[in-house]
Amino acid sequence: AIDVSGLVDSEGGLVDRAVFTDQQIYRQELRRVFAPSWLFLAHADQFHKPGDFFTTYMGEDPVIVTLDRNRRVRAYLNSCRHRGARVCRADYGATRNFTCTYHGWSYDLEGKLVSVPNKAGYPESFDTGEWGLVEVPHVDSYRGLIFGTWNPDPVPLRESLGDMAWYMDAMLDHDDQGTVVVGGVHKWVLEGNWKLAAEQFATDWYHVNMSHASALMVLSPTGKGPKDEIVHRTGRQYAGPNGHGAGFPVHPKNRFDAGTVHQWTDYAALRERLGDARVEGPLTNGHATVFPNFSYLPVNGSIRIWHPKGPDRMEVWAWTIVDKSMPPEVREAQRLYNLRTFGPSGIFEQDDGENWSEVQAVSHGFVTNSVPLNYQMGLGSERDDGRHPGTTSELYSDAAGRAFYARWRELMTTPAWHEEDDK
Ligand code: FES
Repeated sequence: AIDVSGLVDSEGGLVDRAVFTDQQIYRQELRRVFAPSWLFLAHADQFHKPGDFFTTYMGEDPVIVTLDRNRRVRAYLNSCRHRGARVCRADYGATRNFTCTYHGWSYDLEGKLVSVPNKAGYPESFDTGEWGLVEVPHVDSYRGLIFGTWNPDPVPLRESLGDMAWYMDAMLDHDDQGTVVVGGVHKWVLEGNWKLAAEQFATDWYHVNMSHASALMVLSPTGKGPKDEIVHRTGRQYAGPNGHGAGFPVHPKNRFDAGTVHQWTDYAALRERLGDARVEGPLTNGHATVFPNFSYLPVNGSIRIWHPKGPDRMEVWAWTIVDKSMPPEVREAQRLYNLRTFGPSGIFEQDDGENWSEVQAVSHGFVTNSVPLNYQMGLGSERDDGRHPGTTSELYSDAAGRAFYARWRELMTTPAWHEEDDK
C-alpha cells in the first residue's frame, strides 16, 4: 500500500495533487475508501414490487439493486459466477430472474443460481447452492435513500451519518410522506477525478459568485446577478468527523429560490416540524456531500453520485426528488428548475464541470503535481455555534474540505477488513 499521509495535511489545509492523478492511489481508494464505506445505491421510490431492479456501481463494482420476493431491498454483484459477464445489462426494469446472456446461467431474486444449461455436464461435486450471486452484505436506508456497503461489520448507517442526518432532513423530512423521484436518472461523463466534485459539494460555496456569475445574472430578479441578494456570504458550513459536509446561506425570511416551490411551501408547518434554524438555513439552499461520493442540493431536489471511473474520469448520475405531497404542477416546476440549473446541460452544472476538468487537465505535469493546493480558508474557525449540530464554520470556508480529506487519509492509511495482513 502507498503511504498517503504525506500527501494530505488536513490540519494545515494542504492537499497534494497526486491524490487526483495517481493510478496506484486510485486502486487503493477502491479498496480502502469505497469498499468499506456506505455508498448510495438508489432511491426507495425506484422499487415498488418484487423484481423491480436498478443497476448501478459501488466504486467500480457493478451491482444490481432489487426487491426480493419478501419485498426486502437487496443488492448483488452484477457479475456472473460462471465467466463473469453482467447478469443484468438493463439500467432498470422488472424481472423474475436474472439470466446471463453469455451461457444462460440464471439467478432468482434472492441471488440463488436456479438454472444451468447442460447441468448434466458438470461433475457431481458441482453444487448450485455455492454459486449464487455475491451479495452486498449490508443494505440500509435513510429516509428513502438506500445505501450499501461491502464492509462485513460496518458502523450502522445512521451512526455513520451522525449529525449529517439533521442537515439531510432539511431536504428529506418535510412531512410524513417523504420524497419520490420525478423523471429518470441523468448520466454523464466528466474528465476529472471524483473527489474534485465530492469535495466541492462538501465545502465550496466560495466559487459561486465567481464561477456562476453569468448564470446568477440570468436568474437574478434585478439582472444584477451577484450584486443583488440571491447569493450572499452569511451562512454556515458543517464539517463532520466522518468526512460529510454541508454549507448553506442563512435567510431569516422564508424563501425558496425556485418560485413555484416557494409559493406552495407551508413554511409555518416546516418551522414547526424542523425548527427555525433548519428552515432559515439548509432547507432552502446549499450544497452537501455524504462521504465519499453522494451529494445533493436541497433547493433543486438534486441528488447525485460521482462514480469513479479511473483517476481522471467520473460518471455523474443525478436524480430529481420532490416531496411526495407536492401536486403535479409543483413537481414539474421543481424538475424544470433542477434541469435548468443542475441538469447535464444546466447553467450551473456546466460551470462546475468545466472547473473540475480544468484542474484535472493541468494536474499531471511533473512540477504541477508537486505543488500542493490550499484548503486553509476558515482554519481554526470551526466551533459549536449552539444553533446547528456538530462543528460549523462560516459559509465561506474549507472546513468541510479539510474534514473530507482527513477522513480520506484515515481510510487510505487503514488496511480494510480484506487486507488485514497487508500492513
Ligand atoms: Fe454467465 Fe457464462 S458468463 S453463463
